[in-house]
Amino acid sequence: MITSISVRRALAAGLALLSTNTLAHPQARQSVKTRDRNDLVQPVYQALPLGSVKPQGWLKDQLEKSATGLAGNLFNFYRFVKDSQWLGGNSEYSDLHESAPYWFNGLVPLAFGLDDSTLKGQVKSFLDYILDHQQDDGWLGPETTPHTRGLWGRCYIMLGLTQYAQADASETDRIVDAMHQYIELVHSMLQDNFTGLVPKEGDVFDGSGWGPARAHEMHIPLQWLYENHPKNNSDLIWETMDLMIQGSTVFGVDWRNFFVEGTFPEVVYAPRDQSYSWLFTHGVNLAEAIRFPLAIYRTSHDEVLKAQTRTAVDLVAKYHKSLAGTIIGDELITDTNPSKGAELCTSSELMFSLAWVYQYLADNDIADWEELTAFNAFPGQIWSDWWSHQYVQQENQPWSRNLTENPQMWVNVGSYGNVFGLEPDYPCCTVNHPQGYAKFLANSFVGTEDGGIAHVFLSPGSVSTMLGDNEVTISVDTNYPFAMDLSYSILADDDFTFYVRIPSWANPSSTVTGPSGDSVNISPTDVGLQKFDVPKGQSRISVNLQTEPRVVERANNTVGVYYGPLLYSLALDFNETTRDAVAYDMGFLEPSSTTPQTRDHIVETTELWNIAIDPSQIKVVEFYTAKLSNPVWAFGAPPVELRIAATEIDWPIAWDTPADPPLNPQAKGKPFSARFIPFASAKVHMAHLPKLELETVDLDKRDS
Ligand SMILES: *[C@@H]1O[C@H](CO)[C@@H](O)[C@H](O)[C@H]1NC(C)=O
Ligand SMILES: *[C@@H]1O[C@H](CO)[C@@H](O)[C@H](O)[C@H]1NC(C)=O
Ligand SMILES: *[C@@H]1O[C@H](CO)[C@@H](O)[C@H](O)[C@H]1NC(C)=O
Ligand SMILES: *[C@@H]1O[C@H](CO)[C@@H](O)[C@H](O)[C@H]1NC(C)=O
Ligand SMILES: *[C@@H]1O[C@H](CO)[C@@H](O)[C@H](O)[C@H]1NC(C)=O
Repeated sequence: MITSISVRRALAAGLALLSTNTLAHPQARQSVKTRDRNDLVQPVYQALPLGSVKPQGWLKDQLEKSATGLAGNLFNFYRFVKDSQWLGGNSEYSDLHESAPYWFNGLVPLAFGLDDSTLKGQVKSFLDYILDHQQDDGWLGPETTPHTRGLWGRCYIMLGLTQYAQADASETDRIVDAMHQYIELVHSMLQDNFTGLVPKEGDVFDGSGWGPARAHEMHIPLQWLYENHPKNNSDLIWETMDLMIQGSTVFGVDWRNFFVEGTFPEVVYAPRDQSYSWLFTHGVNLAEAIRFPLAIYRTSHDEVLKAQTRTAVDLVAKYHKSLAGTIIGDELITDTNPSKGAELCTSSELMFSLAWVYQYLADNDIADWEELTAFNAFPGQIWSDWWSHQYVQQENQPWSRNLTENPQMWVNVGSYGNVFGLEPDYPCCTVNHPQGYAKFLANSFVGTEDGGIAHVFLSPGSVSTMLGDNEVTISVDTNYPFAMDLSYSILADDDFTFYVRIPSWANPSSTVTGPSGDSVNISPTDVGLQKFDVPKGQSRISVNLQTEPRVVERANNTVGVYYGPLLYSLALDFNETTRDAVAYDMGFLEPSSTTPQTRDHIVETTELWNIAIDPSQIKVVEFYTAKLSNPVWAFGAPPVELRIAATEIDWPIAWDTPADPPLNPQAKGKPFSARFIPFASAKVHMAHLPKLELETVDLDKRDS
């Protein structure tokens, strides 16, 4: 498999090179200007210092499982981290040398979000190693020749370093010095015909052009450095950002030319035969590139780019968003039929992009989307013990197994890709998934422009921070998204303004109780925030959201059903077998490269999965629970379910998986009350279903 992937990637790189310059963006060519400090566009909502937001409740349980599961053990056993070239070993799955950088970028926020001494020890020893081994010319990492030195993997090292420097002040100076030395070198490389970024003949660091397609990844760390520790390098930092974007233009992957209605594809059945680079159609690239126009907007102040960020979000949503909140692309985008898959890296990166973009655009629907991904697509792709994951998730997936007839169905994923395993396909998702919930947590509370705080992603947690001289601690007790009420306890030295985001699906009859104890109906502003004036001392606030099930229509007479931020899926019980982990290239995995917990899970439903539903007949079933089960995303664990009228239908199989939903479904037998559960807890599932009108069913009566 590795050979076929790399051959296909190399072929694809050829195509990308051919298209070089065909879409050059005029603005990217303008000369570099000297700027004063502090004129980056500021966010509407500020991220709080890493470590100031702590998890509680089910989110804490999940992050702890990640810490004791795969994410927290990769450093101890996983060949692409432990024996990576970054740590003096020789295991890399790609010339990009991206594996340890991905791991570092996710482990830093996990370690400091949980304040976990074991994980902090891991990131500290990695930090020490890479800084102690920084080369004399400033290069970070193991490569010593120009042909092997690629910039891309280092963008994630820089992101990890930036987070580290914010979370641990004792390391800040050392990190900042290393970053400055590194970017002085990078600046000179980029000035020399984009060395290290745009691959040239003889270069082996990036066969396909991932670096130029993701050139904007350097902006978040460089913008942090520019604003907080510019030393005497402000101009050089600024020029380095400009040069990165110029490199992407030279390579023909300037996303400003792609996020344009009319150019951006509705469906792409031959992703490698378009007039534009195939790199634009890669699902993970798209998830990352939502940050591209905004990264440049911060330096250019060009309002067109702010508007284009909104356009990018809308185009991806309109044509390629899954019901569960990710981007369907295996690995390249095609259509949105539910047998197609979405890569785990896509939901991880998308959650980071949406959280960051939301801080600048402040549009409520972007925060809704963030929650959708965080409570559906992302956890649905991870086994409930956090030791294994799928490479691709399908929305209709009654079994996760080697789809032996499959190889041609997915564009660039092998037949084993929907198995929950250690590395069921390319290992990027093994090392890039830890950032998902860790950054979601870090961004769940934000500072507001009037000096207050807002709770924007409504998961359980607490925040302690200084608002100027005002020390504020806020703790929220909630089972959201499994329940609709949130109770806040607040302690503050002085008065301040607190906001709670009201999701757009909440009914006007939802209520809030402010510090004075009076309950009133919600009255969010047009950006979706409910305001509370909080006096100094101790206060309590509560929010009670009301909603009803929502039916979302999709093409060909199909629907998805939601209740609050959760997508619902037919509850399919399953049998499970486990096997030794399979290597992504089907090679032999040394026993030392696995642990007793790293099993691959083959799961198949034992129940009727081929149904159509009548979405006019839905009933919500909530079970009383004082404390949620842990792990909450296990089958049957969430305390909220739906009953929906359903009927058996004929549903053909294609490529060893359910074919596209039948266009003219015919009811077979008597309709019945079907049990639906939160998508992420249904490890095998059917969520994108044909609709039919059925006779009235007693939804309380479950006989099937
Ligand atoms: C710069 O790199 C491009 C490939 O990206 C190459 O075609 C060109 O010849 C190089 N120019 C110089 C002056 O080396
Ligand atoms: C910046 O440059 C000035 C003038 O060359 C010098 O005096 C100063 O020490 C430098 N500051 C830093 C932080 O390097
Ligand atoms: C609708 O059905 C047609 C015919 O089966 C199929 O080609 C098409 O891809 C479907 N469209 C979507 C968006 O599911
Ligand atoms: C999946 O099935 C194919 C075809 O039978 C086989 O070649 C491949 O080895 C199988 N993969 C795994 C991981 O079992
Ligand atoms: C699991 O269930 C499926 C469907 O009933 C069946 O074909 C398969 O043999 C079962 N596997 C195991 C290991 O029991």
